[in-house]
Amino acid sequence: MERKRIIVGVAGGIAAYKAATVVRQLTEAGHSVRVVPTESALKFVGAATFEALSGNPVHTGVFAEVHEVPHVRIGQAADLVVVAPATADLLARATIGRADDLLTATLLTARCPVLYAPAMHTEMWLHPATCDNVATLRRRGSIVMEPASGRLTGADTGPGRLPEAEEITTLAQLLLARNDALPYDLAGVKVLVTAGGTREPIDPVRFIGNRSSGKQGYAMARVMAQRGADVTLIAGNTSGLIDPAGVHVTHVGSAAQLRDAVSKHAPDANVLVMAAAVADFRPAHPAVNKIKKGPAGEGEPTIELVRNDDVLAGAVRARADGQLPNMQAIVGFAAETGDANGDVLFHARAKLRRKGCDLLVVNAVGENRAFEVDHNDGWLLSADGTESALEHGSKTVIASRIVDAIAAFLRTCA
Ligand code: CTP
Repeated sequence: MERKRIIVGVAGGIAAYKAATVVRQLTEAGHSVRVVPTESALKFVGAATFEALSGNPVHTGVFAEVHEVPHVRIGQAADLVVVAPATADLLARATIGRADDLLTATLLTARCPVLYAPAMHTEMWLHPATCDNVATLRRRGSIVMEPASGRLTGADTGPGRLPEAEEITTLAQLLLARNDALPYDLAGVKVLVTAGGTREPIDPVRFIGNRSSGKQGYAMARVMAQRGADVTLIAGNTSGLIDPAGVHVTHVGSAAQLRDAVSKHAPDANVLVMAAAVADFRPAHPAVNKIKKGPAGEGEPTIELVRNDDVLAGAVRARADGQLPNMQAIVGFAAETGDANGDVLFHARAKLRRKGCDLLVVNAVGENRAFEVDHNDGWLLSADGTESALEHGSKTVIASRIVDAIAAFLRTCA
């Protein structure tokens, strides 16, 4: 991606120290970063830290370098403003359009996307004043991330933690890659996403698994949550991905557990996104104790397999039977290699017909493609026969294009 000008605003909260990681990740991605902290942010992290990490001067007020008119120029020239952490006070000042320091002046003059990553105590986040401010900022087109839940300063826990730096910078990169802002168009939509690979036990220490990393499904959950959806994520094995902020996450192991979790949540959902790599077969008789290899020459064990339920096809059937009256869109994923019978698209078209879902995301897989990597490409097939290419991009950018298609599909259902 070409070098962009990013302003990182830092408000005065304990999470200000995490802004250093955000700045480092954005500069390492090749962007030009300028940090604009508030006066109180500098009580938590010194200006020298931000100057060293960004390679740019750091000021809080509008009276430094006055000849360059920084309170106007910095915002005007920016391609993106990221405020991390955005405290309750900063959100309030941004909402009413104050310009009482360099950061708020920059927010008033910026015409580029603005991304707020909130961090504050749960009571402050849930206060009607903050809720109104967040709603106003979103209505004006700013992106206000949902804070993460978890341990806050002291013994408190609840929503209000700054989302992980990687989540903030991933979203920042998405905003730079998209030529328009991320719409807040899925508010009120309940989405169920599955991600990652299932593990089918052979014995207490061994399993049959697959190479799915869960990255594409996590990106789907993250992007849909940022567009306002109420997202539940059923996660199989994901090799340590960070759970997306503002998403309800349930971790499962086997295909049967994933199926049960989907059955539990599907009746509430308006959208089902089956990005998980669900095992088609499982060992018929998983051993209670560890299988011993025994002396050489005594033969090799054979694992008998039985077929797992097809969760996606089951959801399509349940909807047709009237059991999922809220369900509007069912999205499947297919990883294909092509073979002697036909290419990737040939198999994908057949799979769309066989599964009966509304949209099918298709990836060509193989050596160094799709699995475990951060980039992807493919096609999006729709039950109405339309097909579009998903051009190569980060899994977050791909997720954002798929979500555009889901949002368009939901509009046709309305
Ligand atoms: N899927 C599912 N339950 C299964 C297997 C797959 O819900 N037991 C879902 C996946 O989550 C995905 C879609 O079905 O959304 C396609 O998965 P894939 O493994 O490509 O399909 P299969 O029907 O298993 O076809 P194949 O013979 O190509 O493996």
